[in-house]
Amino acid sequence: TTPLRLGIAGLGTVGVGIVRIVQKHADLLAVRAGRPIEIVAVSARSKTKNRDVDLSNYEWEDDPVALAKRSDIDVFIEVMGGHKGPAKDATEAAIASGKDIVSANKALLAIHGQALAEAAEDAGCVIRFEAAVAGGIPVVKSLTEGLAGNEITRVMGVMNGSCNYILTRMQDAGLSYEAVFEEANQLGYLEADPELDVGGIDAGHKLALLASIAYGTQVDFDAVELEGIGSVTIEDIHQAADMGYKIKLLGVAQMTGRGLEQRMSPCLVPDTSPLGQLQGGTNMVVLEGDAVSQIVLRGPGAGEGPTASAVMGDVMDIARGMRVSTFGQPAKTLRKARAARAAVS
Ligand code: NAP
Ligand code: HSE
Repeated sequence: TTPLRLGIAGLGTVGVGIVRIVQKHADLLAVRAGRPIEIVAVSARSKTKNRDVDLSNYEWEDDPVALAKRSDIDVFIEVMGGHKGPAKDATEAAIASGKDIVSANKALLAIHGQALAEAAEDAGCVIRFEAAVAGGIPVVKSLTEGLAGNEITRVMGVMNGSCNYILTRMQDAGLSYEAVFEEANQLGYLEADPELDVGGIDAGHKLALLASIAYGTQVDFDAVELEGIGSVTIEDIHQAADMGYKIKLLGVAQMTGRGLEQRMSPCLVPDTSPLGQLQGGTNMVVLEGDAVSQIVLRGPGAGEGPTASAVMGDVMDIARGMRVSTFGQPAKTLRKARAARAAVS
């Protein structure tokens, strides 16, 4: 049988996690996909860095764009990060050379997702990104597959583990925002640019992607009303607790008479609710549909294993012949739907 051949750009937390799964579960993956899953080539900035994983059987590319163009790969996996530069260039190059794409890069997709999806459609490729939203939680598959028979009425959730860690720790230890921020930074929980986390930007990227999938709209990060957690004080947390609430960085997307509303901001949630009980770096997404009512998904939103698990779910779908992009419908249909709404409003 024909193997599915992978090229992985990025060998950090997520990239190494993917290599480990492919190596550890080679037999299981082959049985489940009906064909072998093989890594052919990899790329990162440093060829000599010790990554604690055996890369000796793979071709090395210094340049991720060169990796993307290789004729001996079928799927280009982008786990470098960043919404411009190499991640964008290599993803575009992969599409131009007819590769399917699996990405964990929420920033790139929230900002350039529509253009990339249209390019992929023109090239006959699929672009899938379960890992970009809520790490190991299969929230995208829940929307596009399990809930495909529903009109989605609301999507909400806690989608940034670092912010949830900071808010939970402030509450539990009675520490100031500044003290816990410093602690989270020391522990390596925050992005290289912490403002992406605490400014709500990372969570906003994820909400914009989910909203697009849920409502069949073009991804529109600029339309997300954003407020981070930087101004939440320990007094706010204590006052909320006195009233039986917790403060969470909560994202909500819903279709209203005025169009799609997307908000990511610190909110009061009842202490005893599932969202109120959410601890540490965990994520929770609540999906509401007209037929299903409500489902709640909870799990690890980040980390090597969980994020690589989501990437591999997409790889397996492609291996089995799934030709649907993560947006769940053709990209040009999304553009037409946006144009039609703009004409009405
Ligand atoms: P990371 O640990 O910082 O790793 C990034 C990798 O990309 C590194 O191996 C780096 O090479 C490589 N890289 C960066 N710039 C490059 C360039 N110009 N050319 C070639 N390689 C380059 O990042 P990560 O945590 O694995 O995250 C990867 C992606 O997954 C990001 O989009 C992130 O937002 C997303 N994501 C991460 C998580 C998570 O829990 N970590 C969860 C969900 C989504 P070197 O190693 O040589 O420096
Ligand atoms: N910084 C992100 C978080 C990483 O804390 O949730 C996973 O997307």
